[in-house]
Amino acid sequence: MVGGPPAPLERVRPMPRRRRSLATRLAIVLGSAVLLLVAIGGAGIAFAWNHASVDTVGKVALDRQLAIPPLARSTVDAAGRRVFDLTAQSGSTDLGGDEPSPTWGFNGSYLGPTLRAHRGERVLVELHNDLPVATTVHWHGMHLPARYDGGPHQMVAPGGTWEPTWRIDQPAATLWYHPHPHGETADHVSRGLAGLFILDDDESDRLPLPHTYGVDDLPVIVQDKDVRGNGHLGSGSGRTIVVNGTVGPYAAVSTERVRLRLLNGSSMRVFDFRLDNGEPFDLVATGGGLMAHKASLDHIRLAPGERAEVVVTMQPGERRVLRSVDPDLGSNFLSSHFDGGDAKFDVLELRAADTLQPSPAVPDVLSTTNLATAGTESESVRTRTFSLSGHSINGRQMVMDRVDFAPILDTTETWQVVNTEDTAHSFHVHDVQFRVLSVDGRQPAPELSGLKDTVYLEPHRHYRLLLRFTDYADPDSVYMVHCHMLRHEDAGMMLQFAVVEPGDRPGELAAVPATRHTEGHTH
Ligand code: C2O
Ligand code: CU
Ligand code: CU
Repeated sequence: MVGGPPAPLERVRPMPRRRRSLATRLAIVLGSAVLLLVAIGGAGIAFAWNHASVDTVGKVALDRQLAIPPLARSTVDAAGRRVFDLTAQSGSTDLGGDEPSPTWGFNGSYLGPTLRAHRGERVLVELHNDLPVATTVHWHGMHLPARYDGGPHQMVAPGGTWEPTWRIDQPAATLWYHPHPHGETADHVSRGLAGLFILDDDESDRLPLPHTYGVDDLPVIVQDKDVRGNGHLGSGSGRTIVVNGTVGPYAAVSTERVRLRLLNGSSMRVFDFRLDNGEPFDLVATGGGLMAHKASLDHIRLAPGERAEVVVTMQPGERRVLRSVDPDLGSNFLSSHFDGGDAKFDVLELRAADTLQPSPAVPDVLSTTNLATAGTESESVRTRTFSLSGHSINGRQMVMDRVDFAPILDTTETWQVVNTEDTAHSFHVHDVQFRVLSVDGRQPAPELSGLKDTVYLEPHRHYRLLLRFTDYADPDSVYMVHCHMLRHEDAGMMLQFAVVEPGDRPGELAAVPATRHTEGHTH
């Protein structure tokens, strides 16, 4: 060692080099980790961003004939009640995936028949549950006793039957029915459990609006489906649009005017419907029935659960595409994007025959009496406020055995409702059809001026609603108010109310409905 050549300089200072090298490596490792995380985060954000971006305009073949849900057959029983039979069952349906999707339906594999009844009739629905899990059927928009409302307290066990019965006593309207199991509504509805319930009355009988079901009066149940590779369905927003369960639909039109009964039957997606040529249509009814006057609109926004009846005027031989384009959610740029505010879809093609049967002009005056259903402002005895944010209303979440408030029978109330955050929320009330008195103190837009049971809440705006509670008081049964974005509702964005007689107080509710946890329940 002594006689050996001097160690090269490099070798004399190995430690600092190694130390530097260690530090450098550490820095490199840490730096790369940070870069990787940033990249992953960026990719995640980009993925989420792209996931929320969707534009199918001009990209979907609209070449399958639109399915029309059959009108449900009914019989009249000895007591004079119109009796409908509904069986919730499982099946499979082609929803455009690689394989048919496992679906649920009423009396079929997807969706259900259209129930139809006239004001003044008594109806009875024999509901059978042939599913492996418990479910419920709620009559969305219907004025009926709370114990027949079909909310989460009225679970029907697998193999079970439920027989709600009531008298139809509200204006002609396009209502719908769907399950309402606590925490599982998005799942049950997106599997296919939904259908229309059309009501007629003397006023609607007399009006010269298109009214031949399936010919010039078309049910248009629009849903976005999250169809996975194997056909399995997610319960959130998706990119496949189905109308009445048909992917890529067209409808043959043989008359000069066609009435579309639009229902947004999606879990979470807000639509803004318009015609591809930008031509206006006549809005004749909101969710609760005919408007006082028709309104000419070139687009209409519908949140999940909302309905609208519009009359489209067609030219012979023309093809028009109903689209949903960039629904204005009223929220900031980012929230709006992630809630589908810049999504674009082709929905339904209307194909007019070369010669069209003449249709009468749409009358300007439609219903002179409907708005009175919601009472008058001067008789309002009470103001309540509802503030929506997170998955709560007034800071509360749904508790099955808690009655949150109790309006008095035969009184009118004013409700002030606000969505305090930049997330898309809506407000739905069971039992009653309300009137929107004002939005931020101003007269509501035409599409909010008729009777409604569900209203989209533009963030930070104040909605004043007028509602009247009539006919049914029951301290032991409840109705719901909730956000109708189904995943929010499932997450607890829902309160319960009982309508009670003056001087009465709400009774005790069962914490867990008796039929809920049954053997067949697989969740
Ligand atoms: Cu359409 Cu409480 O529901
Ligand atoms: Cu409802
Ligand atoms: Cu919500």
